Amino acid sequence: MLKQQYMKREKKVKKRILTGDRPTGALHLGHYVGTLESRVTLQDQYDCFFIIADYQVLTDHLRATKKISQFIKEIVLDYLAIGIDPSKSTIFIQSKIPEIAELTMYFSMLVSFARVLRNPTVKEEIKAAEIPEASYGFVGYPISQAADILSVRAHLVPVGEDQIAHIEQTREIARTFNRLFGPIFPAPEALVGRVARLPGLDGQKMSKSRGNAIFLSDSSETVKKKIDMAITDPTRIHPTDRGHPEVCNIFQYHRTFNTPPECEEIESDCRNGRIGCVGCKKRIAYIINEFLEPIKERRNYYKDRKSFIKTVLRSGNEKARKEARETLKLVREAIHFDYTNLLGKDN
Ligand code: TRP
Repeated sequence: MLKQQYMKREKKVKKRILTGDRPTGALHLGHYVGTLESRVTLQDQYDCFFIIADYQVLTDHLRATKKISQFIKEIVLDYLAIGIDPSKSTIFIQSKIPEIAELTMYFSMLVSFARVLRNPTVKEEIKAAEIPEASYGFVGYPISQAADILSVRAHLVPVGEDQIAHIEQTREIARTFNRLFGPIFPAPEALVGRVARLPGLDGQKMSKSRGNAIFLSDSSETVKKKIDMAITDPTRIHPTDRGHPEVCNIFQYHRTFNTPPECEEIESDCRNGRIGCVGCKKRIAYIINEFLEPIKERRNYYKDRKSFIKTVLRSGNEKARKEARETLKLVREAIHFDYTNLLGKDN
């Protein structure tokens, strides 16, 4: 193709996003501000692919896969509830795309053993996992994640801060492949959301497994109770004590979900002992509940629409698979694994 024509076509084609989640439970506020929110705002500008990464559940939940299909449903409901529109974006299940497994195989040969062991996120996850020993697949899952991203040749990956190491790894793999076999892959960029790391109710990173999360599907009573129990500034005993909003996770919630003027007021009231933690918590519980209300309403609307969910996933799988097939065709050709001489075309 003439270069000019090629450039013209490239301009017309929308750039691609791929990102996703593990089906180990419902999604929470940390996911929302870290990545979900950007997905909704970017779904008109980009061709979006959202992967539900069931292979990754096998890393640290190998003996707890019974609920996987229930959790896949929860994630689809969360996606629909926050405003991901399946007529614009593709939602699909990782293991339904065998080309991803094949691509993982090729990519695994492009990364040195030492490099795999250096990934800080994996190291942390291995430490946190309640398992006797990490499997080979656990240590190597960022390679499979690179295959997720590059199976549709994505340009942008909206993720939480902890995933940056994986995107860096993906870029290295794309570059190595392109250098050895020809330019097939873009080097995708990570896009971290408006809040890189939302603290959980205990002040640590908000996470499904730590029991410190507010879920998008939590009832308003649950939200109130959870916030009521949350840790605040540990040096503050009486409501008239001077507080330290910078160390308080509840204040981080105000920063994230409250309006700037009210947030400023709360900050100065806390510093000067004019508002106690109880009042401050009540206010943020109210604000978070207001925020979650329409999300839960939409979630409820879709909850019993089984056949709709089925259609979303089936057509998503089909569309992702079509892209992955095209990518793998290019990959096999590039590494001379197409065997046309031996087996004929489209063997
Ligand atoms: N590792 C991601 C998480 O735990 C989920 C994920 C799987 C992902 N494949 C991906 C994220 C590809 C971005 C791109 O949240």
